[in-house]
Amino acid sequence: MNNAIELKNVSKLYSVKGNIVEALQKVDLSIPSAVFASIVGPSGSGKTTMLNIMGGLDRPSKGEIYLAGQPFHKLSETELVAHRRRLIGFVFQSYNLIPNLSAIENVELPLEFARSGNTRQRALACLEMAELPTSRHKHRPNQLSGGEQQRVAIARALANDPAVILADEPTGNLDSKTGNQIIALLKRLTEQEKKTVVIITHSPSIAVETMLTAEMLDGTIDRTVNRQK
Ligand SMILES: Nc1ncnc2c1ncn2[C@@H]1O[C@H](COP(=O)(O)OP(=O)(O)OP(=O)(O)O)[C@@H](O)[C@H]1O
Ligand SMILES: [Mg+2]
Repeated sequence: MNNAIELKNVSKLYSVKGNIVEALQKVDLSIPSAVFASIVGPSGSGKTTMLNIMGGLDRPSKGEIYLAGQPFHKLSETELVAHRRRLIGFVFQSYNLIPNLSAIENVELPLEFARSGNTRQRALACLEMAELPTSRHKHRPNQLSGGEQQRVAIARALANDPAVILADEPTGNLDSKTGNQIIALLKRLTEQEKKTVVIITHSPSIAVETMLTAEMLDGTIDRTVNRQK
């Protein structure tokens, strides 16, 4: 088995004031290692729910999740946190950087949590992978463009050398040219660093750049498109 991510018969029900929402219904999905995959679908179709469950940020109501072979559905909260930190880097639409830390300090933060050795050297290597110019390393987030902030967020996601990067609309706040540069960067991470990258996108022109697309509709995967050679 060489799948980085596997969902088997995964359902998620939310209950709000007695109303049950079936955010995911019996979803099966396999994403091989070192693949660039995308999740598309209308608003409310369950994309974020599925990504959060893959990444162990949320628990399924039913079903099995394997990430790098780890059975996430069986783990205790403490085990889940530890595996998540080691195996997954998260990237968000709004970057989620710490405003009073510089670019390089933002990247060092997860390394300090993981009690890694030379945090400065590793952070520099990650900023280089994310192609943030050296002249921007000391800038705080509000002194950076959106595209530069997303590069810092991607460098931060790479800090602990995860197998998987999960990104919820990483280009959602960027113009199309900058968005395409971020997509090219994520693609290179699959090709050169052998990361498995999963993005949510609303853009058909971005989805066709990925090797595998899961099209969601009403909490189910309506269709998967495989563009792997
Ligand atoms: N924490 C929650 N509690 C209750 N219902 C929720 C919760 N999170 C999501 N939902 C519901 O689950 C469904 C799927 O939501 P989800 O956020 O996964 O959609 P999405 O495809 O990511 O949409 P968008 O494109 O707007 O981000 C929606 O009907 C939403 O209202
Ligand atoms: Mg969403």
